[in-house]
Amino acid sequence: MPVISKETINDIQRQANIVDIVGQYVTLEKRGKNYFGLCPFHNDVNNPSFCVNEEKKIFTCFSCHKSGNVFTFIEERENVSFIEAVKIVSDKIGYELKLDIKQNTQYEAHYEALDLASRFYQNNLHSSDGKEAREYLKNRGINEDIIDEFAIGFAPKGTDTITKMLLNKDFDENVLLESGITNRGNSLYDTFRNRITFPIHNDKGRIVGFSARIYQKIDEAKYINTRETPIFKKGEILFNYHRAQGEARKNKYLLIVEGQLDAIRIYSVGIKNVVATMGTALTSDHINLLKKLNVKIVLCMDNDQAGEKASLANGEIIESAGIPLSILRISGAKDPDEYLLNNSVEAFKDAIDNAITFFDFKMNYLKKDKNLDKVDDVSRYINQVIAELNKNKDDVLINLTINRLSEEYGIDKNVLLNKIIKVDTGIIEPKKGEIKRRISKIDKYCEIILYYMLNDIKYIKLYEQELSYLPIDLYNEIANDILAFYIKYNYISIADFITYEIEGERYDDVLKVIDHMIDQELSDEEYIVLMGKMKSLIDEKKIEELKMKLKTVSDINEKLKITNEIARIKKKDVLE
Ligand code: CTP
Ligand code: MN
Repeated sequence: MPVISKETINDIQRQANIVDIVGQYVTLEKRGKNYFGLCPFHNDVNNPSFCVNEEKKIFTCFSCHKSGNVFTFIEERENVSFIEAVKIVSDKIGYELKLDIKQNTQYEAHYEALDLASRFYQNNLHSSDGKEAREYLKNRGINEDIIDEFAIGFAPKGTDTITKMLLNKDFDENVLLESGITNRGNSLYDTFRNRITFPIHNDKGRIVGFSARIYQKIDEAKYINTRETPIFKKGEILFNYHRAQGEARKNKYLLIVEGQLDAIRIYSVGIKNVVATMGTALTSDHINLLKKLNVKIVLCMDNDQAGEKASLANGEIIESAGIPLSILRISGAKDPDEYLLNNSVEAFKDAIDNAITFFDFKMNYLKKDKNLDKVDDVSRYINQVIAELNKNKDDVLINLTINRLSEEYGIDKNVLLNKIIKVDTGIIEPKKGEIKRRISKIDKYCEIILYYMLNDIKYIKLYEQELSYLPIDLYNEIANDILAFYIKYNYISIADFITYEIEGERYDDVLKVIDHMIDQELSDEEYIVLMGKMKSLIDEKKIEELKMKLKTVSDINEKLKITNEIARIKKKDVLE
């Protein structure tokens, strides 16, 4: 798999002028140090809120808060992957891109063994061993084309057929064990026996494991999957992702279902932008895969109580990652597979088009166990909706919902509005019409400190001397990442740091930091004051923690030690 090294990407970034490149999409006008234009990422008709800094090589919109470097700009604008964006930028500036060939050789034998196993299972399905399994697939409406496309196979009935076959082909015993094809009991035996097999690919399209289903009425687990191996981690894999990614970008959405047979059915009726979670909850690694696509998600879980719970839990995870989301609840069938066997493709496409927002889904969900003719239940319902609104950052949604509740249940709007928590927005007040970022003062201080660290080594050194940690875990991790970047490369660049973090979990939060590009620049004195405030906040937090600890210890000497420590911190604050 060819990749472009971070060094090459940084080199391209150094040579690319962000103002020239962004200028091909947005008309920019210079004002002070920055260039301004109408933001291409939201409906920005009145005041140009999109801003590019040539020297720092970054952009931000102070209205919709989209930020990034030249690559992430192209990624968003052209709706391509990060690597494709790097290629586009290098084309634009005439940079000769030599792809660095980095092969992951460590697991090459594992991939080969899995590939061979898959082909063996495929052939075996068409042998006499697989006769009944073929019947089963046929009865479920899985035809030869689908069997070929998804490389569906059949694991032999014997105990060690595939293990022996691979050992004969000179595969190392450890490779077979490590890749999950083989198990060790008294002797070696095949992990999958007498089951229909579905190969599972990683995002690059290589087989990393199998899911295997029973086909007879027997008292065994319906599916068994490859156990966790160095290359198969259920939490990192979405079934069918490698086939779906291009289609999802093209159609600007990705459908997520629970079972691989649901994904297979949906794909084979022509809706190819579909993946399956394989029955697990979404993880942060899944979210990273989803973010790379930069498309909306339509979540379609099974039509049962578990599916409803999964919609809620997965929806929460997707939404809090900032990915646009809607929820599809099918009816009249237990899952999408059954639905498509009994309904037309058009009916299913209509259902996708009519998928509801996650917020509406939650509103319906909250109504479920209540009788809204009863005052008690109405009150409980409204309070739960308000709690949801308080989690939400969208002022428009808050307003619409308040109006709706007020009309539906005859409650004074002001009573409802007073229940919405006003969040301290810190130093800058947003202008009229801008989306307010709800952010606490301490978050804001952390972000500003990080922003300065990303702009000048001087602030990295100051941070190490004066603070050396931030009281919010997430920001502290970003600070550590900045230190790691600086130690590794011996310079700092905000634009290169974005590239450095691109595959990391903290990427979105790093972008929030860039938002501060449009803040008034702080003088050295003002910056020192800010650090002082941060120190007091850290001390306050320490005192809080010590007070909590005080409540739990019973030893008198220990208690004394803690109170002394509290006094010492307080005294230090007064003296400073
Ligand atoms: N699953 C699993 N182990 C099980 C049951 C389910 O790993 N014992 C996973 C499988 O990946 C399955 C998914 O969870 O695809 C969803 O489960 P389910 O809804 O039961 O699967 P279906 O796709 O509906 O399977 P089928 O239609 O074959 O019954
Ligand atoms: Mn099913």
